[in-house]
Amino acid sequence: MTLILGVETTCDETAASVVQDGRKLLSNVIFSQTEIHERFGGVVPELASRTHIEWVLPVIDQALRDAACSPERLNALAVAQGPGLIGPLLVGINTVKGLALAWKVPWLGVNHIEAHLYAASMCSDTEVQFPALGVVVSGGHTSLFLMENIGQYQLLSNTVDDALGEAFDKAAKLLALPYPGGPHIEQLARQGDPLRYPFQAGQVKGFPLHFSFSGLKTALFYALQKERALHDPVPLQVQSDLAASFQRAAFSDLVRKVLLAAEMHHVGSLLFGGGVTNNNALRAMFQRAAPSGQLLWPPPALTLDNAAMIAGLAYHRMQDPHVRWGAITDRPYTRN
Ligand code: KG4
Ligand code: ZN
Repeated sequence: MTLILGVETTCDETAASVVQDGRKLLSNVIFSQTEIHERFGGVVPELASRTHIEWVLPVIDQALRDAACSPERLNALAVAQGPGLIGPLLVGINTVKGLALAWKVPWLGVNHIEAHLYAASMCSDTEVQFPALGVVVSGGHTSLFLMENIGQYQLLSNTVDDALGEAFDKAAKLLALPYPGGPHIEQLARQGDPLRYPFQAGQVKGFPLHFSFSGLKTALFYALQKERALHDPVPLQVQSDLAASFQRAAFSDLVRKVLLAAEMHHVGSLLFGGGVTNNNALRAMFQRAAPSGQLLWPPPALTLDNAAMIAGLAYHRMQDPHVRWGAITDRPYTRN
């Protein structure tokens, strides 16, 4: 039995989790800083760093208590080593380094994006069919990866401007909805007509799998301005139609590019990761477009930033005879 304590502090969640053998969650503690950053309409890095300092040890302590696990029983510590905000990363990494020294336990860093993809297979009974396509849609990333196996990735495409979650957050701000905006846009879109506004996501010339969402956000801005000139305040139905049309445009672009990549690279499974996978309309669109056995989604507790995915992925990294204990190298396992 291998017990790993994972720690996650890349952005605005302070999280710790004890995972057994890479799959079984013995605890999963997440302190979300959303309320702290909400009034600024986005994450304030300095505030995030200071809040991590305050919460990282209590959260780790709680994760050990929930798992009824003392530090002596741990086989390793794992920390999200990036990508992320530099201040928050320093807090997590240095805390884990300090605890590893004090507890005499080895530690290793894992890539946060890779961990988001691992989360989809972590608790699933469905076996991943490799090569698989990894789809990361979060507040910071919109990327497609060709996955030969766990730990072997090739980056296929990225966003050239806003990440998908970021586009939702910015769209929500335009519509005067709270931060983070994704869930609010989803809710507003439920009563809306997705075809009322002919919004479209951007295409990147010469790169059919790349993403661009900043033009979509601008289109929403101008449509909203036009409506405002007609009626102020803008009626709820119009706001809902705007949200639904925005969401339809963003997701239909994602579905089309994901299916194109899947066809181009003859993949078996599609693995999804990141906060935007919380969106039920997104899941439903993929469910309609692809065989359900092909789709692997993270369980609800692991869609947003969490430390269980960090500890789970670290277990697999430990199986590698070349694992570099205590090394900070951001993309050791990404071949691109
Ligand atoms: O993975 P995550 O916690 O953070 C990063 O690692 O970036 O994802 C947060 C992002 C935010 O942009 C948030 O608006 C978006 O995920 N999100 C959603 C939904 N729930 C969260 N976007 C669309 N629909 C949702 N239901
Ligand atoms: Zn994330």
